[in-house]
Amino acid sequence: MAATAGSAVGLGNIWRLPYEAGVNGGGAFILVFILCIILLGIPVMLSEFIIGRSTHKTIKSALRQLSPKTKIYRFSHFVIIGVLITLGFYSVVCGWVIEYLYQAIVGGLSGHTSSEYTQIFNGFVGNGWQCVGWTIGFLAVNFLVMGQGVQKGIERISSIMMPLLFLFLVVFAVKALFMPGFKDGIEFFLYPDFSKLTMRGVIDAMGQAFMSLSLGAAAMIIYSSYFNDDAPLAKDATIIAGVNTLVGLLAGIIIFPAVFSFGFEPQSGPRLFFEVLPGVFQQMAGGQMWAIMFFTLVFFAALTSTISLSEVVISFFHEECHMSRNSSLALTAVLAIAVASVSAMAFNVLDHVTVFGMNLFDLFNTLSSNLFMLGGGIFTAVFVGWFLDRQIIIDQLSNHGRCNRGIINFTIFALRYIAPVAVIMIFLFSTGII
Ligand code: PHE
Repeated sequence: MAATAGSAVGLGNIWRLPYEAGVNGGGAFILVFILCIILLGIPVMLSEFIIGRSTHKTIKSALRQLSPKTKIYRFSHFVIIGVLITLGFYSVVCGWVIEYLYQAIVGGLSGHTSSEYTQIFNGFVGNGWQCVGWTIGFLAVNFLVMGQGVQKGIERISSIMMPLLFLFLVVFAVKALFMPGFKDGIEFFLYPDFSKLTMRGVIDAMGQAFMSLSLGAAAMIIYSSYFNDDAPLAKDATIIAGVNTLVGLLAGIIIFPAVFSFGFEPQSGPRLFFEVLPGVFQQMAGGQMWAIMFFTLVFFAALTSTISLSEVVISFFHEECHMSRNSSLALTAVLAIAVASVSAMAFNVLDHVTVFGMNLFDLFNTLSSNLFMLGGGIFTAVFVGWFLDRQIIIDQLSNHGRCNRGIINFTIFALRYIAPVAVIMIFLFSTGII
């Protein structure tokens, strides 16, 4: 359970949710995001839990076991590609976290104006060696941890780190209360102004919900394959989703008052977190220590997420391609480093390359949530809702007879109807029909 929560809580909530909200107009986006978590996120998480715990296998063999006469298991290849792309952009941001941790330690983050913080960020990402270097450095740590078999240790550490991270966020949120931009920031972030919500915003909110809950990436299938038989799935999924969402909301409650106090643009995009936070620390007594501790905690939160992403690919090569665990790990590392290096270069060496009007980092970032995680999650929903033996769902959710019937019915309804409607909406939108 702790590992599953560790996978979910990460940069997706702390770094991505606030800037996505910023780009998509604030409060109305957050409202749609929360609805997506409740109506789609929790049911889809349950569908992954059902697959994982009923088979005790990873995605491909699980699908093969549950649907032996079909070729549905081939869908796992789509998921694996998506996970590699996710690792590719996510590790770049982990590299940024390391750089900021380093800067916090050497004192490079204190005593600057807002526009200097923007310059610091630009200077850093614009430097190819530095940006690619930290990205690869992060991945090296990630795969070293996994190669040494100490990820369990990291997950254990993270069960202390996560509550601590939460506590820090609460402290910063209290600090935000006293900022001059508090009212404007909170109004922007939490007051729904539907005139600012676009169809694209709705899709982004769905993608964000899936990304932040680690859905559609088969990570939840792997972790739940280790759950014991009497773990109450619906309760666990609700707790994980609740805590995870709260972390994201707290991050926004910290960031937007600062955005309005320091005169940043809410629409700044992926840079928002890194431009704004140093200014927040600067205003606190002992700011440097807060910054060092905070970036360390964020580093661990990110690491437990990349461990879960890497595990999906490693176990795929290991189990499906009959490679040894070490060769699978090495191959995954090489692939992840290749994709991540390319996306780290999107801000420097390859900054002239755009696809669909996006640089390569934004492209991977968008494809990851809006295509792969949404696609993967909704596939799982439809598979479990429509094709899986209903008795398996009931047995898993009720732990063979105990548990609330209402939850089971709602889950099946959401998987059968709400998720497909979401797919149709995405289809109509992406083809330009609506
Ligand atoms: N949920 C993680 C985060 O919010 C990202 C992630 C996605 C991790 C998919 C694993 C699988 O940071």
